[in-house]
Amino acid sequence: MKAPRATLALIACVLVAAAAIVDGRKLEQWVPVAGGTSGPTLRTTVNIGFTQVPCLAFSPLVQDWTTSNSPTLYTATGNTRPPFNETEDLISRICQDPLAAGTDIASAVQAGGQEAQTALVALLSADCPPNNEAGPASYSAAIDQVNPSGDPADLDEVSSWFTNLAAAADDVGVPLCASIAVVDPTGGVVEAHTFHTSGIAAPAAESGSASPERVRTSAVFGQEGVTCDVYDSESDSWVINTTAPVYGTSGSANTPPATLVAALGDQVCNDPLAAGPLLRDAVQAGGEQAQLWTYALLNLGPNCPDPSALSMAYSVAIGGINDGTTDSLDATTEWFTNLAAAGDAVGNPLCASLAIINEATGEVEQRDFHTGGEEGA
Ligand SMILES: *[C@@H]1O[C@H](CO)[C@@H](O)[C@H](O)[C@H]1NC(C)=O
Ligand SMILES: *[C@@H]1O[C@H](CO)[C@@H](O)[C@H](O)[C@H]1NC(C)=O
Repeated sequence: MKAPRATLALIACVLVAAAAIVDGRKLEQWVPVAGGTSGPTLRTTVNIGFTQVPCLAFSPLVQDWTTSNSPTLYTATGNTRPPFNETEDLISRICQDPLAAGTDIASAVQAGGQEAQTALVALLSADCPPNNEAGPASYSAAIDQVNPSGDPADLDEVSSWFTNLAAAADDVGVPLCASIAVVDPTGGVVEAHTFHTSGIAAPAAESGSASPERVRTSAVFGQEGVTCDVYDSESDSWVINTTAPVYGTSGSANTPPATLVAALGDQVCNDPLAAGPLLRDAVQAGGEQAQLWTYALLNLGPNCPDPSALSMAYSVAIGGINDGTTDSLDATTEWFTNLAAAGDAVGNPLCASLAIINEATGEVEQRDFHTGGEEGA
């Protein structure tokens, strides 16, 4: 099982990274700013969503970043793709030396335009097993350059950097909101600013009571056999379980027509943001549609010139199904059931998992949707 594992790890991690985007994630400055000074400090956070995102505000009450009860949700309006080769180059530098790449990212965002777009896409797509923290570490190094000590005197520079970051996110179609708070030594907020992408989502329908549960997903694909990821509540992330059963597919593969597959593969590679909703609908429809798209995604997607295309297309698709709450649990369950059935039919082993995380009790319930017969670990 040596060779299949390598394939599995590579593809799995791409999609795990994608799942992190779907769930919305924050980019944080890891280094505590301005410890022990008596004056105010400048703090920042960046919130990223897949289809929409709220801005975070620093709460004096809990001394942390929070969202309001009915926040405005921002969407992104563009679908520009920075040059594949530049993105690929930056991703490999992030993987080799996250801190050094952070310096390049700081200046790329400062420069704005296409350079900033490349930096953002690379940060979100960087996937460097076993170092899953390379992207966040690069971001942290970048923002530390712009705002090294939390000095409020950097406000203008940080504002201009976040203005460029939000514009780049808007251009590439990733909803993002960066927040700055100047916090005084007692924890009060002296000054606050947000920098967000330019679209505004339609307000969500009123829901009865706020649910303490959220739903996160992960999907693992591989050529020969896969294990289901396990949600780890300590790190709030998905981890590979090396002792878990390996799933293959159950029957003879029913390969869809090559010309159709090639056309869909082109769509995934060349315009993943537009391919995402088509993938979403096809899997939702099930049957042959689902099989065709699943086959094209999993067999042609890994070879796209743009290394982020596969995860982008998948993320848009699942992001349109799972809204991160139990409201969409039935839809997500059905989508994953169809996805696993499609993978099984076309001979692509996969395991899609969802975790229902109860924020109030800390309880986690995980459900797995996998292909075919067990091959044995
Ligand atoms: C990417 O391709 C362009 C055009 O071919 C070239 O000018 C540029 O140097 C390349 N960048 C990298 C990092 O290879
Ligand atoms: C990993 O898989 C094994 C075998 O199914 C299971 O017993 C174990 O609980 C799993 N580990 C985690 C952390 O879930």
